[in-house]
Amino acid sequence: MVSAGKKEKVLETKIFHRDTWAEVNLDNIFENITSMKKSLKKGVSLFAVVKANAYGHGDYEVAKTALDAGADFLSVAFLDEALALRKKGILAPILVLGASRPESAALAAEHGISVTVFDEAWLEKAKDLLKPGQVLQIHVKVDSGMGRIGIRDKGQLMKVESLLKREACFNFQGIFTHFATADEMKTDLYEKQLAFFKGMLSELTGKPEYVHAANSAASLRFTDSEWNAIRMGISMYGLSPSMEMKPILPFPLKQAISLKTEMVAVKQLAKGESVSYGATYTAEGDEWIGTLPIGYADGWIRKLQGQEVLVDGKRVPIVGRICMDQCMIKLPGPYPAGTVVTLIGNDGDESITVDEIAAKLETINYEVTCMIGARVPRIYMKDNQMNHVRNFILE
Ligand SMILES: Cc1ncc(COP(=O)(O)O)c(C=O)c1O
Repeated sequence: MVSAGKKEKVLETKIFHRDTWAEVNLDNIFENITSMKKSLKKGVSLFAVVKANAYGHGDYEVAKTALDAGADFLSVAFLDEALALRKKGILAPILVLGASRPESAALAAEHGISVTVFDEAWLEKAKDLLKPGQVLQIHVKVDSGMGRIGIRDKGQLMKVESLLKREACFNFQGIFTHFATADEMKTDLYEKQLAFFKGMLSELTGKPEYVHAANSAASLRFTDSEWNAIRMGISMYGLSPSMEMKPILPFPLKQAISLKTEMVAVKQLAKGESVSYGATYTAEGDEWIGTLPIGYADGWIRKLQGQEVLVDGKRVPIVGRICMDQCMIKLPGPYPAGTVVTLIGNDGDESITVDEIAAKLETINYEVTCMIGARVPRIYMKDNQMNHVRNFILE
């Protein structure tokens, strides 16, 4: 629970004006990266995956923490995400994992941002658009079985490699692929993809600086491999890549995010009175109902009706439909407005994990943290205390 002192400090800053916030524990992110680094073979580089606003945790803070913990590279999905990090002063190398436009080549080169390429025509076009003297860092993507983006043909790969070697405006910095099932216990497709990737690598006349394939799941499970860099996403945030992998994690992962709010109203309903749109919940007797200032526009979606939250270390249910900006909980008794409610995180001996919310929503933990909206301010915890607040909508 946020102590009174911490809460006062938050209010003093007046950086947000609604009492709902996500707490991001940067010490846990640091520790997860340190543990991963210890488990890697010597000389293997770590790319910290901070796309999608660092899976909802905040791009700048996570990037900074990852670099402090020894990450060598950052990766994002789109060029705009890389430019946003540059704008905030991040100077470390950044790779855009998704497709970029050839028309963006000069901009990427200007900001020292590496891009992903899987098409010879892309390079031909970009070559003509780069400014004299510019050098664009290229990572070639191989589609070894994910069926998303990447070269699938050896002849194509050879053409791309010779073009990269021929043209001084390109530096062939890396080659990579992505696994579809590294988090599943059945390893056939994983092995097939790895063999395909190795086959493609053997076609190259020379290997680039970085050869990378493993996401969190592959990095946590398979050590003996071809790559000299890994891409660490979900495990950096302290979450398991899948439920199947939870029992076989080689080191403990520490969840970094919590989601909290404070009750804005508490009232007593009489038997027969109902709660929220559609009147789907009716009090069975005299009941205490608390109102929380969080709703589906914050990522706390309607399917979470019935999910429990923590009040004073006890589990209580969300009752009635979740509204866009508010939802209601059934209390065991009268609590004062202003009482802290934990939607994700620890309170006393109780805990609600991101995985519990994912199970309730029949989805994966990745989606839960990404869904926590930009309207929810993030409070950063570092060295066991509140460090600073970020309110994306007032930035
Ligand atoms: C190309 C690529 N590499 C790495 C990652 C990180 O994967 P994970 O979060 O499972 O570690 C992702 C995530 O979606 C990805 O798309």
